[in-house]
Amino acid sequence: MQDVKTYISEHRERMIQELIEILKIPSVSADPAFSQDVFHMADAIKKSLETAGCDLVEICETAGFPIIYAEKTIDPTLPTILVYGHYDVQPPDPIDLWSSPPFEPVIKTTELHPDGAIFARGACDDKGQMYMHVKAVAYMISTGQLPCNVKFMIEGEEEVGSKNLAGFVKNNQEKLANDIILISDTGMIANDIPSVTTGLRGLSYVEVEVTGPNRDLHSGLYGGAVANPINILSKMIASLHDENNRITIPGFYDRVAELSQTEREAMAAAPFDLEAYKKALDIDAVYGEAGYTTNERNAIRPTLDVNGIWGGYTGEGAKTVIASKAYAKISMRLVPDQDWETITELFKTHFEKIAPKGVKVTVTRHHGGQGYVTPIDTIGYQAAEKAYETTFGKKPVPQRGGGSIPIVSLFEQELKSKTILMGFGLDSDAIHSPNEHFGIWNYLKGIETIPYFYQYFTEMSS
Ligand code: BES
Ligand code: MN
Ligand code: MN
Repeated sequence: MQDVKTYISEHRERMIQELIEILKIPSVSADPAFSQDVFHMADAIKKSLETAGCDLVEICETAGFPIIYAEKTIDPTLPTILVYGHYDVQPPDPIDLWSSPPFEPVIKTTELHPDGAIFARGACDDKGQMYMHVKAVAYMISTGQLPCNVKFMIEGEEEVGSKNLAGFVKNNQEKLANDIILISDTGMIANDIPSVTTGLRGLSYVEVEVTGPNRDLHSGLYGGAVANPINILSKMIASLHDENNRITIPGFYDRVAELSQTEREAMAAAPFDLEAYKKALDIDAVYGEAGYTTNERNAIRPTLDVNGIWGGYTGEGAKTVIASKAYAKISMRLVPDQDWETITELFKTHFEKIAPKGVKVTVTRHHGGQGYVTPIDTIGYQAAEKAYETTFGKKPVPQRGGGSIPIVSLFEQELKSKTILMGFGLDSDAIHSPNEHFGIWNYLKGIETIPYFYQYFTEMSS
């Protein structure tokens, strides 16, 4: 892999331009208005894997958006790496807050990305990171340096809960057989502090509806005499945390794996600047569960957050009204060994129970999944560590992440293999937010580091 740096400098402009092209396709999986674009995006990924030199590239239709499967087999006795990524993106809203249109990529420099960053929805999550793998494999194939077999599985429904991927994985265990799964869909601490994500949180996502009177009422004629669903919903939500910011749902913490003092100390050793964190978010204090640090709160502790709440009159001016209904969308981030379906049931039972007389409550579950922890005493982790050491000049910090990729625990269950999460994004890259971007340096560093993972993993496996 000696020539990877030279290769990247020679192909830099082309590799950036090709990423820009796929970022122009608005593959928003959540919004049916973009459905054609999502299919179009699947075709573009298929072409890029063919161009990269894979022997077999298939578009696997599902009840939703297709899964792209590809492989390059050089010798069945050598190890096989399965690369997973997603080509769908989050909706770009609120569009007004973007400084340039979300599907018209532009390169701008930022404080953290002095070499420039590509601004576009999906730049980091996950088109840019997924594409690093396509480019890294293209490099290895074209220079005759692919040291092992590789398979790709790139889906188009990650941002909406990977509904059809689970069935695909269960039905294609042999096809997807592998020695390790490699994913770049997370982040790292900083460009000079590489890290490998060693854990993901699970998720339970629910929607609640509180119904009071059978119609919207005059807030003077009826105010004070009937339950106002918005007031009640607010009260119910407020009661879900106690004064220590612990979640009050009975049984919620029963299965939470507590970390040992040694593990907590190891976590605390990872570089973290609380002042810079507050400054970046323009907040004067952090907030969360008593007894835990910020890094613990957003990685090893479970949460319950309202993601959206609505009801009543929200238009211009004032309207005196008591709404018939109020709604909220609530996510719970879960940690090992919480089971997302059990937690969803606990939530439902509790939320229905705390509803006062005078309102009706319904709880609908959306999607969810289990958390995941990657052990670090495996050759997979050690190969990743060595790859970062080669290209960054220092060992990566193992770090549990707060986000979720629910399909990862299913991979372990169905394919019996571990996942290595080599993320090259930064928390400040604004994934899911307006002005999402991905550093050019990060993109190229990913392309440079991935081939070393292949090399070391193959060497360590023999
Ligand atoms: N790539 C993210 C997850 C992520 C980002 C994990 C950064 C760790 C660090 C993924 O695309 C995502 O957004 N997942 C969703 C869950 C999904 C079921 C919609 C999430 O975490 O909200
Ligand atoms: Mn993602
Ligand atoms: Mn995402």
